[in-house]
Parts: sequence; structure tokens; C-alpha cells
Amino acid sequence: MMLKYSLAAALVALVGTGLTQQVDGAQFNNPTAGPPASYFAAAATIPVAALQSAATQVSTAASKSTYAINNNGGAQKVTIHSDWSKFSEGAAFVFVADMDVDCDGLNHNCKGNPDGQAQTNFGALSAYEVPFIVIPDNFATAYPSEFPGNNLAAVICNGKMFYGIYGDSNGDTPEVIGEASWLMARTCFPGEDLNGNAGHGAADVTYIVFTGSEAVLPSSALNKNYVTNFSTLRSMGDELVNSLAKNLGLVAGGSPTTLTTTAIGSSPTSGSCSWSGHCAGASCSSEDDCSDDLVCKSGKCASSTSCSWSGHCAGASCSSGDDCSDDLVCKSGKCASP
Ligand SMILES: *[C@@H]1O[C@H](CO)[C@@H](O)[C@H](O)[C@H]1NC(C)=O
Repeated sequence: MMLKYSLAAALVALVGTGLTQQVDGAQFNNPTAGPPASYFAAAATIPVAALQSAATQVSTAASKSTYAINNNGGAQKVTIHSDWSKFSEGAAFVFVADMDVDCDGLNHNCKGNPDGQAQTNFGALSAYEVPFIVIPDNFATAYPSEFPGNNLAAVICNGKMFYGIYGDSNGDTPEVIGEASWLMARTCFPGEDLNGNAGHGAADVTYIVFTGSEAVLPSSALNKNYVTNFSTLRSMGDELVNSLAKNLGLVAGGSPTTLTTTAIGSSPTSGSCSWSGHCAGASCSSEDDCSDDLVCKSGKCASSTSCSWSGHCAGASCSSGDDCSDDLVCKSGKCASP
């Protein structure tokens, strides 16, 4: 009864406020039915490819910065960089590594994970519900004021960007780098059946970890087990990434208007969609100008058959099926039904 009531309440919240994804959390504590990717995906306006490329141009090693990607002898080593850590807004550390699955916390006995721990660093997170990332403990503890815990992180995997939090640290001997929760890993690489004993081996995932107390997901959006408001996660993520992209000059000459208007502070005209000024009826030249799942039809944002990855629904540009939501395929450069 209670569960039914809270599910109904969550649905009302969802419908009543556009796409506010406030949840109880427990309903997504499931290895095959976690929160949809759209709950923690970056806005379609984020310059993901440019950020991924910028992450390969950094050069300043952080303190306690170098770790192997696994414990096999001769494993590739990865360095965490501090080049982006001094900005007043959007400051972050960045590294490129593989992605192994961490199930510590509530689901420590997930598939392939006989040696899991029941706790995560700042609670007992659900690896099925929370998109969290793991960083080496020696690195995290070298920067206590930068990493209070539950800091926003942006992960670029498979050409997409997802938001998560720094929820756990790796304390193996020696420590390894490149791990994320079951949910994050399986959302990044849905075709790889990743589990506690099967990671994504290639070091081709970009991890951007934002610093300082202003980058911490607040307790109004997170409890010891679950993210309870994915809208907060996404709006903080979009704001931090936009600040970083501006600092890196990635949006100069691009479309600064669309980027700046995704900031958290919403204008008085918002209310029917999550990106005010870009709701149904607003002028547009492409789907990128429209909020959420809206598409650009005859110069106006309008709803279409919705899909779970906004900006990647039917009609969005694509170069392969990986760019399209759900089971849509890429036909002649546009996402379309198979
Ligand atoms: C969820 O987060 C959004 C964005 O931060 C916020 O506007 C909304 O009020 C939050 N909902 C609750 C119930 O806290």
C-alpha cells in the first residue's frame, strides 16, 4: 500500500512538473530495471565530443595521480590531471580510463561480485539505482576539500555523456582506476553484459569529477541508498559542464545562448518543460533548440512520440544506431524506427 502510494505520488510529481524526476529510489533498485538513461543523461546542447577531445589535451598531473587500470601485471597506467582544477566555476579533475563494475553498498552481492562490501564511502548506495563512479582512495584523500563526497561527475562513454556522483573509492593494494556502478557501466555499454566480473576493458572512458562543496549533490536529492531527485543531478551536471566548457573556450562562437539558458536558475516563464523558453511552441531551427523530448516541427518545438533519451528520439541526427534512443536505428542520418 505504502509503495503503491509513493509510486503514484512520484508519478504525479513527474506529470505535474514536466520532467521533474523525483523518485523514492527503491522502485529502481533492480539489476535490469534501473532508472532510464534519460534520468542522468547530459542535455543535448552539451558539446560532448569537444570535451572528450579537450580531455586528451591536458598535461598537468595531479598529486597521487597515477594508477593501473587493473591488477594484472603490465596493465596500462592512467594519470589524473589537474589542468581544469583551478576554475572558479566548473573546476574538475579529469582522467581517461576503462570501466569496471563496482557494486559495493546495497547490492554488493551483484552478479560476478563475490568480494563486495556492504558500504560505500558516504553511505550504502544502490549500484542498481545510483550512477556513481569510483576514484582511487589515495587520490581522493590527497584533496579533502575538493572531494567532500557525492561530488558531481560527468562520464563520457560510447560518445554519450552521463552524470553521476563520486560515491566510492578504491582501496585495493595496489589501488586501481576506472570503475563505476552497475547502473553507470551497463548504461554506458548496454551491449556488453557488464557485471562484477566483466568490465569494459578499453581505456576509452572520460571521467570528469567536479570539485568543492558547491559540486556536491545535496541531501535533498540523495539519501544513503538512493538518488531521490534526478532533476537535481541533471541540472547541476549541465550547469557545471557548461561552466567548464565556457572556461575551456569550447562554446565560444558556438551557440552560447542555448548553452547559458540551460543554467539551473529558471525564468518565471518556465513551468511546462525543463528548459524554459524552449518548450512546446517555441521557435527552433533544429531539435537541439527544443527542451526534453520535443522535436522541431515546422520551426516550432512540438512533442513527438517520446523516447527515453531526449535529443536522440525519432528524427534526431545520428551517425550510428548508438546515437539513437531505445530501439531506434540510424537511417540516412536520422534516428528512425527499425
Ligand atoms: C528536484 O530538483 C529540481 C531541480 O533541482 C527542483 O526544481 C525540484 O524542486 C526538486 N524537487 C524536489 C521535490 O525537491
